[in-house]
Amino acid sequence: MCGITGYLGHREAYPIVMNGLQRLEYRGYDSAGIVLADEKNVKLYKTKGKVSSLRKIAEKNDVHGNLGLGHTRWATHGIPNDENSHPHFSNSGNIAIVHNGIIENYDTIKKELIARGYTFKSDTDTEVLVNLIEEVKIKNNCKLGKAVQMALSTAVGAYAIAVFDVNEPTEIIVARLGSPIAIGIGENNEEFFVASDASPFIEYTKDAIYLDDEELAIIKLGKEIRIRKIKDDSFVEPHIQELKLNLEQIEKGGFKHFMLKEIHEQPHAIQDTYRGRLLASKGIIKMGSVDNNIGKFLNANRIIIVACGTSWHAGLVAEYLFEDLARIPVEVEYASEFRYRNPIINKNDVVIAISQSGETADTLAAIKLAKSQGAFVFGVCNVVGSSIARETDTGAYTHAGPEIGVASTKAFTTQITVLALMALKLGNLKGEISNSRFNTFLQEMTLIPSKVEELLKINSEIEKIAAIYKDATNCLYLGRGYNFPVALEGALKLKEISYIHAEGYPAAEMKHGPIALIDEHMPVVVIATKKGHYDKVVSNIQEIKSRNGKLIAIVTKGDTIVKEIADHVIEIPETVEPFTPLLSTIPLQLLSYHIAVMRGCNVDQPRNLAKSVTVE
Ligand code: F6R
Repeated sequence: MCGITGYLGHREAYPIVMNGLQRLEYRGYDSAGIVLADEKNVKLYKTKGKVSSLRKIAEKNDVHGNLGLGHTRWATHGIPNDENSHPHFSNSGNIAIVHNGIIENYDTIKKELIARGYTFKSDTDTEVLVNLIEEVKIKNNCKLGKAVQMALSTAVGAYAIAVFDVNEPTEIIVARLGSPIAIGIGENNEEFFVASDASPFIEYTKDAIYLDDEELAIIKLGKEIRIRKIKDDSFVEPHIQELKLNLEQIEKGGFKHFMLKEIHEQPHAIQDTYRGRLLASKGIIKMGSVDNNIGKFLNANRIIIVACGTSWHAGLVAEYLFEDLARIPVEVEYASEFRYRNPIINKNDVVIAISQSGETADTLAAIKLAKSQGAFVFGVCNVVGSSIARETDTGAYTHAGPEIGVASTKAFTTQITVLALMALKLGNLKGEISNSRFNTFLQEMTLIPSKVEELLKINSEIEKIAAIYKDATNCLYLGRGYNFPVALEGALKLKEISYIHAEGYPAAEMKHGPIALIDEHMPVVVIATKKGHYDKVVSNIQEIKSRNGKLIAIVTKGDTIVKEIADHVIEIPETVEPFTPLLSTIPLQLLSYHIAVMRGCNVDQPRNLAKSVTVE
């Protein structure tokens, strides 16, 4: 949801900021811009469109400067066009800003500024903020850092900003509330990097500071970074972390798209998720954050799961897992609904928040609400140190590695892996799963990576099926039990990257409405694995075929019955029922991927979407 990046140091800022923007483009790609400055002059280039378009414009011009700020946008206020693109300047042209987030009271501030003679070129809330900073700076005759701090005290909303004064191109002010920002520190304070995540600067430094909410940092060449609390001006000791990320992890590694790479990373990602937690030889699951709070989990009357999108689908799988294996009642909530619904949270409820990015605004707000009502909140996140990871009482990381393709793939299967480990552990401790059954599950989990590997080998078969259905206008996905959320996820994957309308349904619900849609033009993807209401799903399949629907069935290896009826079958290896989603999801990811590629869609950056949704 907008990416910001910047550089201040002895090198040319342009290549560093531009490459950084390319890496952050997953966060938004409506428009892009860069401002470059040195002691002599300032240059601004911005345009509607991708970072590649910006590059073409900038490289026809002067790109010198040791200070640079860049922005890649996901529009909130104002349509994507050149004027609304960031960076924005204040009226005097002295202060430049890049911003990720939303200033909710921008309209009121704008009216006040207009009354004081300010004019606006764009429709953005960001241009309002930079003018407010200028107004405060002039009025109080103060330094830029102080002006930013005072302006932000009156702003309502969410932001990560980077600001500088063109008359002082040796200093950048950054601040955050609700949107992430990391600062990379070069040797001897000779150079600094700023970015929405650390990916733009990992080849330059492993030392980074992640600002907390309501913190403001003053970055000045040759000086130590100073961090202050925006509200009370108190000093915060900078906490420098060593980055674990490496360049290889954020590159495509020979794959045509990040999404394809990330689909193929799943065997390793799942293994990384359970590594150190699942100790099959000892017959135990060790999860520090669960073990340390075991009483809360074992006494839970109910688990409430809050999440959005694909993570919400993982939550639905978890509902089956916790109820089936641990016999704990579960409710799965869209975070966006939960936060505004005046939800009832009882004393012994445990809230689990699931989020790949750890930055989703609705999930974060749901967590804050649950905490304010006294709930114990457990996070399942992928991004280490993210806002959600910090806001929750405790949690478990998925360790899937960076997910850059906007469509979530490995995040989903690794979220399920973490949640399955939790459900198994609790089920065993509660006596709902005998030790021998528990051990069977543990052994089976260790086989999942190789089963996913095996499945990935049928990629070309799936590509052939994709070629047949690439021109479909609609598609239905059906599944029951553990595979119902997989059907929802399959449909979401198809619609978000190929723009084909797709719906997921519990297979038996079909006859209550969607069956009216079925004719010879309607592809129906049915997950009909051996375990999990197989006979019932076979009956549903018959209903589709007798209405001439085109049937693509995901079946367990060796299936003969569905093979007779379906137009296409995709076989997946056999596993225990609770782990089926870890396998049945894979062919659906590949099917969507190939269809989107064949339709010429931008798989990694689908239109209108962004990787982390930091606005509500
Ligand atoms: C779909 C997708 C989104 C995210 C959703 C929540 O492929 O990626 O639906 O799952 O925006 O994001 P996180 O998990 O980062 O909270």
